[in-house]
Amino acid sequence: MIFNTLGVSPALRERLIAIRRDLHQHPELAFAETRTRDVLERELLRLSPVRIDRVATTGLIARIAGKDPHAPVVALRGDIDALPIREATGLPFASHIDGAMHACGHDVHAAWTLGAATLLREQPAEGDVLIVMQPGEEIGEGARAVLQSGLLDDVQAIFGAHVDRRFVVGQVVAQAGPLAASTDVFDIVLIGKGAHGARPHESADPVVCMASVISALQTIVARRVNPAAPAVVTVGMITAGSAPNIIPEQVELRGTLRATDEVTRALLQDELRQICTHIAAAHRVTARVTFSGGVPPVVNGVHAAAWAAEAAAHVLGADAVVRLGYTNMAGEDFAFYQERIPGCFLRVGARNADEEVIAAHSPRFDVAEDAIAVGAAVLAECARRASSSLNAGAR
Ligand code: NI
Repeated sequence: MIFNTLGVSPALRERLIAIRRDLHQHPELAFAETRTRDVLERELLRLSPVRIDRVATTGLIARIAGKDPHAPVVALRGDIDALPIREATGLPFASHIDGAMHACGHDVHAAWTLGAATLLREQPAEGDVLIVMQPGEEIGEGARAVLQSGLLDDVQAIFGAHVDRRFVVGQVVAQAGPLAASTDVFDIVLIGKGAHGARPHESADPVVCMASVISALQTIVARRVNPAAPAVVTVGMITAGSAPNIIPEQVELRGTLRATDEVTRALLQDELRQICTHIAAAHRVTARVTFSGGVPPVVNGVHAAAWAAEAAAHVLGADAVVRLGYTNMAGEDFAFYQERIPGCFLRVGARNADEEVIAAHSPRFDVAEDAIAVGAAVLAECARRASSSLNAGAR
């Protein structure tokens, strides 16, 4: 097995797989990861002496000592929460919890982050490394909660990674620039005047207005956004009406906006508001528009991405580092760390060559478990390289 060359002993590899399977069997949703937290805390305590702080309700930060207590501090982040999905993999270690599943690989992320901590205990970085076990990624709130602890205030570089079944085990994406999109939720309420369905002239019909609004929203990406910048406007929910012969008082539309830079992100919001306000006025309807729950785009820094690419090449060979191709338009709350700390988010191949690509968030999602050792070794090496470079710069 080529992965025995990663500095990950067979014993550690087996232990990380066992922990991953245990977490997989007992998935916990955002901010309810108490058992998960306890398992990870117990495992991190085996690396003693290690300082562990509980943060963000169900999260942990462990401090792995470096060689030089005055050297810059870097952080590795693994997310630990599951999704409200009923598992359909048929795996022997499938979820024991009905309606909850690790369908995004965060069980693997927890395991490889623990593995990185173990490797950094064996072969320390220059400075201390904070191991962040983060809850609540799937609802986009965990990273902010961790940052509020203040424990990352002196961190000078941060790394995290996601399993990716579009790539085979041994391939790693570590590149500068945008990697994932912003995710803003919009909520549009169109308030008109209800009437009998047979007397539309007595109404201000929000349903007809809604139809125009939905069509016009499609012109934002087609006619307002620079075609070179990726963007998405999707209406995913419509709530309207109570009977076939009643024109309702109001309707509601909800959806998501995606962009990979802040200029496009602001433009999407502004254009959406303009379209709603003016089309509503043309229909004698009032539009109320609100935005919520957004994470910023993940944009990898040049230095952090270079350290990550060097780390992956060092661990796996130069051929292992591959380009993402198209930017991923899903969101990732790692972006909140990157607003404050230079960092790189990696994607780690998680499919065996003979397997099909199964999308994350599918009830059939699974991960090739050799990815765990790869993630552990690459993340540990990211920390060492960033730490050495920052320390050299600080002198
Ligand atoms: Ni995920």
